[in-house]
Amino acid sequence: MMSAHEQLSPHRVSDQHAFVTGASSGIGKEFALQLAAQGYTLTAVARREARLQELVSQLPGEGHQYLVADLGTDAGVRLAKEALQGKRVNLLINNAGLSVFDPFFASELEAQSNILSVNCASLMTLAHAFLRQAERGDALINLSSIVAFLPTPAQPMYSASKAFIASFSECLWEEQRPRGVYVMGLCPGITQTEFITSATGGEADGQNLPKALIQSPQAVVEEALRALQARKKAIVVTGRINRMMLLMPRILTRHRLLKVLAVVGDPEKAL
Ligand SMILES: NC(=O)c1ccc[n+]([C@@H]2O[C@H](COP(=O)([O-])OP(=O)(O)OC[C@H]3O[C@@H](n4cnc5c(N)ncnc54)[C@H](OP(=O)(O)O)[C@@H]3O)[C@@H](O)[C@H]2O)c1
Repeated sequence: MMSAHEQLSPHRVSDQHAFVTGASSGIGKEFALQLAAQGYTLTAVARREARLQELVSQLPGEGHQYLVADLGTDAGVRLAKEALQGKRVNLLINNAGLSVFDPFFASELEAQSNILSVNCASLMTLAHAFLRQAERGDALINLSSIVAFLPTPAQPMYSASKAFIASFSECLWEEQRPRGVYVMGLCPGITQTEFITSATGGEADGQNLPKALIQSPQAVVEEALRALQARKKAIVVTGRINRMMLLMPRILTRHRLLKVLAVVGDPEKAL
């Protein structure tokens, strides 16, 4: 019998391998589920082994693997890079990411620096290893966010890291076009995952945010995979409301924009 994920996916592939970082929860896990339903074999990467084990056991198809690696460390990034280089990978989803909601000046430098290591440095290293061996038809999806275009004072390092990823992805999109390799900067808005809980150390879960602003990981990944099939846009913003929110910088002065985002972008203050 077909699973719900298989029934949802009209597009089928064969002999295609997808390498997904941050696959132990949220958007990354959903990418793994929907890609496996399309026929991809998966390498799922994250730190929490039990979660990865459970995921791989429930994926449809055969040959799926997981790799335990902390992408905030040199050793973890090396491990992931070697795993990527050791096989023919057709699709890399650079999804692992995190944030911290404490004020920048008040939080430990290591915590802020870890955002840069996981969100940007590891993403760059894996993108480089992937693109060196990529062939026509292959694709790279980097997880950015709408905060790339809406700098959010409650998350300075996170906002800056996602702006880096959006800019990096757009440049690579153009660079890779002649090679026939598609690069996407994926920009979801607020998505119902463990992200806010982790980023606030369990103090908020985003439940107080207006429901209309929240997308499910399923909806985000379905839009991303439709855009992957179309292979047109460098930046893919998921959700109509998120696309409308990106009109804010055109309507508001920069000063006003930052004041609004200081409230809307803070799960402890928002509504
Ligand atoms: N949720 C949102 O509102 C939202 C909006 C826009 C963009 N995004 C982006 O979407 C991506 C996925 O986030 P999510 O919402 O799905 O959050 P999530 O449920 O918290 O998932 C984050 C994933 O990243 C992994 N990760 C974190 N630190 C890691 C490290 N040091 N090494 C390896 N893996 C690590 C986690 O795995 P382990 O803990 O097992 O290592 C987990 O699988 C992130 O890049 C995030 O910035 C999220």
